[in-house]
Amino acid sequence: MPDVDRPRGAEQALAGEKALVTGASRRLGRRIAERLADAGAEVALHYRTDRAGAEETAEAIGASSPVLRADLSDPDEAARLVEEADQALGGLTLLVNNAATFRRTPLESMDASDFDTFMSVNARSVYVLSLVAGRLFKARGRGAIVNLADVAGLVPWPGFIPYSASKAAVISLTKGFAKALAPEGRVNAVAPGPVLPPVGEPSEQGEQAVAKTLLKRWGSPDDVAAAVIFLATAPYVTGQVLPVDGGRSVNG
Ligand SMILES: NC(=O)c1ccc[n+]([C@@H]2O[C@H](COP(=O)([O-])OP(=O)(O)OC[C@H]3O[C@@H](n4cnc5c(N)ncnc54)[C@H](OP(=O)(O)O)[C@@H]3O)[C@@H](O)[C@H]2O)c1
Repeated sequence: MPDVDRPRGAEQALAGEKALVTGASRRLGRRIAERLADAGAEVALHYRTDRAGAEETAEAIGASSPVLRADLSDPDEAARLVEEADQALGGLTLLVNNAATFRRTPLESMDASDFDTFMSVNARSVYVLSLVAGRLFKARGRGAIVNLADVAGLVPWPGFIPYSASKAAVISLTKGFAKALAPEGRVNAVAPGPVLPPVGEPSEQGEQAVAKTLLKRWGSPDDVAAAVIFLATAPYVTGQVLPVDGGRSVNG
């Protein structure tokens, strides 16, 4: 069986690997799933509401990718998702925690339930998925996890306090599970900056975010997918958070 910890050529860097991508019905999750498949991985595609979107991703991949439903705000469904993916793929070796919820929470209107929503969907799900997958990886002697954090998890945004806190938790979970799963498993995170404008957010918001990057432009889903593949295949990298943000995180 190919080993996730053995360096290989870039083209089929993930040949033999069996990956679960959460939130693979659209946008970044879809592109990450496609690029993992291009790199040779078998990929199970998770969705919550958008089965048609996940099936479109499977079609784009062109293989018989398992399509699996779970509401990740429910810890039992999150745990079951890992078990189903493991069974469908015949042994999971890579978990990409991409699914998340995102919306503005202004100071004037945010409340306790906003905190619970963001923490359960964005952070507790990563905890449960990593716990269940991590135990499998530890027992089998190998496996890797790549989390989708956000630069807002490094420096919080005032209009998105519970979202930012949930992504800070993802960064902490990345480091904690890296310690707990070593030396058998590796855990890293990508922290994207502005890549795809959030649905329903005013466009000037996105342009302001881009203005704060050093490179003064949007990133692309392929930029993020390339970082995911790097972290999935880098044998001596664990516990790290890689900003893919056009320099946003060093720009004051
Ligand atoms: N877009 C960016 O520029 C950007 C920047 C920084 C960080 N990120 C991070 O990158 C990741 C992907 O971003 P994106 O913009 O592509 O996200 P998105 O368009 O908002 O997609 C979110 C995905 O998460 C799933 N999801 C939402 N709530 C869920 C729940 N309760 N249970 C299970 N699945 C749920 C959705 O599934 P269904 O559609 O099936 O319901 C969807 O596939 C996220 O972690 C995000 O925080 C993105």
